[in-house]
Amino acid sequence: MKFPRVPFSVTLLCVVFVRPPAARAESPAARPPGGDARCERMIDSLLRVMTLEEKVGQLVQITGWHRDAHSGPSVSPEQRALIERGELGGIFNIWGARATREAQQIAVEHSRLKIPLIFGLDVIHGYRTTFPIPLAEASSWDPAMVERDARVAAVEASASGVSWTFGPMVDIARDSRWGRIAEGSGEDPYLGSLLAAARVRGFQGNDPASDSAIAACAKHFAAYGGAEGGRDYNTVDVSERTLREVYLPPFRAAVDAGALTLMSSFNEISGVPSTSNRWLMTGVLRGEWGFRGFVVSDWTSITELINHGVAADTPRAAALALHAGVDADLQSGAYLQCLPALVREGIVPVAELDESVRRVLRVKCALGLFADPYGRCSESRERTDILTPAHVAQARRAGTESIVLLKNDNATLPLARTLGTIAVIGPLAADSVDPLGPWDAMGRPSDVVTLLEGISRAVAPATKVLYAQGCTIEGNDRPDFAAALGAARSADAVVIAVGESREMSGEASSRSTLDLPGVQGALVEAVAATGKPVVLVLMNGRPLSITRELKQANAVLETWFLGVQAGNAIADVLFGAVNPSGKLPVTFPRTVGQVPIYYDHKNTGRPPLDTEKYTSRYIDLPSTPLFPFGYGLSYTTFAYGGVTVSPATMDSGGAVTVSVRVKNTGTRAGTEIVQLYVRQNVGSVTRPVKELKGFRRLTLGAGESAPVEFTVAWGDLVMTTASGRRAVEPGTFTVQVGTNSRDVGEAPFAVAAPPAR
Ligand code: BGC
Repeated sequence: MKFPRVPFSVTLLCVVFVRPPAARAESPAARPPGGDARCERMIDSLLRVMTLEEKVGQLVQITGWHRDAHSGPSVSPEQRALIERGELGGIFNIWGARATREAQQIAVEHSRLKIPLIFGLDVIHGYRTTFPIPLAEASSWDPAMVERDARVAAVEASASGVSWTFGPMVDIARDSRWGRIAEGSGEDPYLGSLLAAARVRGFQGNDPASDSAIAACAKHFAAYGGAEGGRDYNTVDVSERTLREVYLPPFRAAVDAGALTLMSSFNEISGVPSTSNRWLMTGVLRGEWGFRGFVVSDWTSITELINHGVAADTPRAAALALHAGVDADLQSGAYLQCLPALVREGIVPVAELDESVRRVLRVKCALGLFADPYGRCSESRERTDILTPAHVAQARRAGTESIVLLKNDNATLPLARTLGTIAVIGPLAADSVDPLGPWDAMGRPSDVVTLLEGISRAVAPATKVLYAQGCTIEGNDRPDFAAALGAARSADAVVIAVGESREMSGEASSRSTLDLPGVQGALVEAVAATGKPVVLVLMNGRPLSITRELKQANAVLETWFLGVQAGNAIADVLFGAVNPSGKLPVTFPRTVGQVPIYYDHKNTGRPPLDTEKYTSRYIDLPSTPLFPFGYGLSYTTFAYGGVTVSPATMDSGGAVTVSVRVKNTGTRAGTEIVQLYVRQNVGSVTRPVKELKGFRRLTLGAGESAPVEFTVAWGDLVMTTASGRRAVEPGTFTVQVGTNSRDVGEAPFAVAAPPAR
């Protein structure tokens, strides 16, 4: 949970209070919304009777108020007055059936038009049942699981009065210095799009009006992850082609899945801040994609237009943002302060204001808030539906699916449950706070199963578990090194948990190095020098450059931040109850100097060749990453047969079938994520060296094999041509199928030129 940083204060002097007309409209807000048309009719009648201030109020979102550090959020006296006057559309960072019911009561019982409030919260990877962070869940390559987890998050949050989450975060990120890489699905637009849609479906359920649904908010629109130097909030300069092919697809997928809202990003895109970007917010989003929900600004991003240097003052910032298509103002106060006067002076057309109000009311109606404003404030559901055993079990399963096995020399893993002594070492081994990860909503350390607890529960009764912290995550002191080495020496195997604190990723947490912080690297080295089998368990919110540690450890598990069931999930994998199947959704660099690094790069005129100086490479590093996108091992092994494509030529509007046989060549059952990549060999513009176009989760018993077929359809090959058209260019293509983006078998096919007319 992130608490308000910038105190919001309403400058009442700027607000001209207009007395509402005496005649009351026939309480339109009380009518059930029914279908879309009924919502629109109700909104029409509301718009006819709303005062200017009431209209603007619908566009205002402000953060909940905390009387002191101990009480939960509530409504401040100032906010209460606004709600009573019908001048507040919603409050965010407020939760709890009681607190939200009390606030809602003010709106629907004491305001003139009784328009319900919407309650927002960053429910990013769970509400109280904290699931793995999104980057971790992306490692599962399992959209169905991701959807189920978002559903649980919605069930829990909605029981507590929340009607709107500021998620999913669907920003593509290719620079792991950027702390917010933890909140998204990694570097790939295809995987990112599938997971964006899955989360939207999970949050909103089958019917957004149901009490257990919360409105999704795809953020941050757009290209926020492209920040220069990986520095949060920084400038983004990106071509329209890259924007459309890399950054926008997950947003499009979220919109197509029915996302009710989007959030504008803090950054500029090639000179135009998103929050004032009419081309993006209105042209692309509404014009091209047909989005009918509302867009909310990011936290004070409207007044930040002044710092960007595109608005001279707050009124101009407000006018620019509204005109661009940013309907609601999160926390800056600019709309509340300035829109009434701007409309009165004719600077902002009433029609523009009305359109934004309509969009906000449409979402409230779609959520069923008019029909039952209290449906989501259920103290009984809050008691029964949160952190249930089923939800916790689901978090454990999600945890195991999110783990990526990066190294396993000589089958170090799985460990035997019956080992005599296991040493559990490292600053994250007994940590119950950091596994919650950034943006953990209502996650509580007391709900977290630590790695030490997970291991202690999993081993046989006679197995001795020794623990030493070794060192802290950051800092240079080594008071506990000796104890750690002592434990390691007397153990049969060592599990060492190192990585980052959760504050080191997430918002405003960019790093300039990707090394293990503090003296953790030295701890790993010293423990490895004992000669005992060492299993490195990484907990972190971004890819780390672990080149050295990788050599020192016998086995390495990337576990990210796995949430409340972290310890159990890791133990499930360590001792083989679960065979790991996760695959990296993001490339691991050898050193920070390689970023941005991603698999679907262009070839350049001088593709890197480590033996050739005058090629596109660094002279002091191999040109390959430490781990490629899609990488992940299993306790079993899989062999791929030859790849075939049929027919050899795809006709205009047609498709080809790609086939491969995959065999489990090991001694235990396992799940392989079979990946399909396509390359357009020659185009009117340069094309990526490969692009993920499909994948399949395949579970095979020991010795079992199965055919896998993919369809590559015409639509999968559409790109932006040199003349700016969206089309498929005839020519030769290569399909690649394999266990990760590097280790693939390939086969050619052609795309026929369209028949001459
Ligand atoms: C973040 C958003 C978040 C909002 C509300 C902003 O600082 O960028 O992602 O939804 O705060 O908490």
